[in-house]
Amino acid sequence: MLNGRFWLGVIVGLAVGAMIRQQKKSGLVQARLNAYYHRRAQNYNLTDYLFLGQFPRITMRKTLMDMIDLRPGDTVLDFACGAGANFPYVMERIGPTGKIIATDYSQDMLDAARDQIVIPNGWQGNITLIQSDAAEMNFDTQFDKVICTLGLAVIPRYQVAMERAWAMLKPGGIFGVGDLSESERWYTQPIRFLTDLIDAAIIADSSRRAWEWMQAHPEGRDYERRELFHGYFYAAKVRKGSS
Ligand SMILES: C[S@@+](CC[C@H](N)C(=O)[O-])C[C@H]1O[C@@H](n2cnc3c(N)ncnc32)[C@H](O)[C@@H]1O
Repeated sequence: MLNGRFWLGVIVGLAVGAMIRQQKKSGLVQARLNAYYHRRAQNYNLTDYLFLGQFPRITMRKTLMDMIDLRPGDTVLDFACGAGANFPYVMERIGPTGKIIATDYSQDMLDAARDQIVIPNGWQGNITLIQSDAAEMNFDTQFDKVICTLGLAVIPRYQVAMERAWAMLKPGGIFGVGDLSESERWYTQPIRFLTDLIDAAIIADSSRRAWEWMQAHPEGRDYERRELFHGYFYAAKVRKGSS
């Protein structure tokens, strides 16, 4: 027989869970993000080597790059590029004639990208780093590919950023996203609260479903999404129709 304390525990647990969930959404503001990435910039890329039985962030990057059909000579926009963790995967595919325009709100992250990835690899002629709010991006360039990894769960006005990026994509170009998501697999449901706790700690919102925007876009073609790492990550792409 379940007693009153059990049910009290369930109610308190649900209430605390709802509070953490609400807190993580309302706490996702630019000033906190900037302070966080200021602290994390120097060691941010090491997070890729967090071993959870596999390296899910690296799998996500490689999967996304394979999905978006990068070609030698492509011009790529990588927004919210962070410390440049995508650059080696992109450069490997677009080669010495390819270009990356890489943007981030945090100058500290861009400095880390320059010092840790761009200069050591001699990619100064290929990669341009620009400090910019993704929701305010407006470049003259039209891109063959636009990518964003681990950014849409973070950028406060992420839907505006997606619209901006889409507008700069060439007809026939591909928009690729890799990110966190709330796993919907049955066996992850009992530990669902962990996603909220992790989100609160890393200032992110995994419950955003950016792929639905991609899937529903009236100009979108050939949409595809792959779940990774038990549904906690995904990679998705959609091509911009030519007409
Ligand atoms: C989780 S990191 C991901 C970095 C990188 N894309 C990667 O895959 O490693 C999120 C990045 O989003 C950036 N960011 C946050 N708000 C932004 C905004 N409004 N516009 C552009 N970048 C933003 C942060 O500075 C940070 O570098």
